[in-house]
Amino acid sequence: MNRASLDKRPEEMAAMFDDVAPNYDLVNDILSLGQTRRWRRIVVDAVGAEPGQRVLDLAAGTGTSSEPYADAGVHVVACDFSVGMLKVGKRRRPDIDFVAGDATNLPFADDSFDASTISFGLRNVVDPQKALREMLRVTKPGGKLVVAEFSHPSFSPFRTVYSEYLMRALPPIAKKVASNPAAYVYLAESIRAWPNQEKLSGWLNEAGWEAVQYRNLSGGIVAVHRATKPRTAAAPTVAAD
Ligand SMILES: C[S@@+](CC[C@H](N)C(=O)[O-])C[C@H]1O[C@@H](n2cnc3c(N)ncnc32)[C@H](O)[C@@H]1O
Repeated sequence: MNRASLDKRPEEMAAMFDDVAPNYDLVNDILSLGQTRRWRRIVVDAVGAEPGQRVLDLAAGTGTSSEPYADAGVHVVACDFSVGMLKVGKRRRPDIDFVAGDATNLPFADDSFDASTISFGLRNVVDPQKALREMLRVTKPGGKLVVAEFSHPSFSPFRTVYSEYLMRALPPIAKKVASNPAAYVYLAESIRAWPNQEKLSGWLNEAGWEAVQYRNLSGGIVAVHRATKPRTAAAPTVAAD
């Protein structure tokens, strides 16, 4: 797979995740050197959902990112467009509500979730800015957004070493442990091509979210962005006749 692999169509993206679904969680843990559990705890704390609230976990895959909410008595809806990932998730956690849906055209009513979150998924969405607008639409006014995504290490010597790890070490490791190593070449390339922390903050603002903040994890390998849906909708701009 070469750089052209970054220009995926939605159906190719879903097929790629269908392919990696059976070993997805194991390979993730190995490649992130066991950091994913700590990152996930921080995301759940940032969402801060109360029992009985409704949370959308978008691009939920096999539901690993959704499980802590269900365990805490939160009504989590795990939405993804890869049926392969959803099937693995449903088999493992039949109690979680798995829903097939595209992040850019969500099958949910306006203002229907107390919070929306997306972990390691926004980077894979073909039109991520549209997904941020859709998440705004389905979240209640005053509700939260939490986005966890691979990002750019803030300390530049470390950024160089990390970038080398991504491009040189990760694909050979993936070849040994993953069923579809090409998917992990895509992973490395897509992380390098993803906007940095400030640019993603700008996207959140442009989509209509407010009070945007972010926190770097593991030196910026991952960034967790938080934002709130305005309580009152901004007045639409009406063009003069
Ligand atoms: C790396 S996995 C993350 C899964 C899970 N959130 C986690 O933390 O383990 C990314 C997921 O994004 C999903 N995805 C990519 N584009 C999507 C879209 N447009 N709509 C819904 N899901 C999408 C893929 O199917 C895949 O399951």
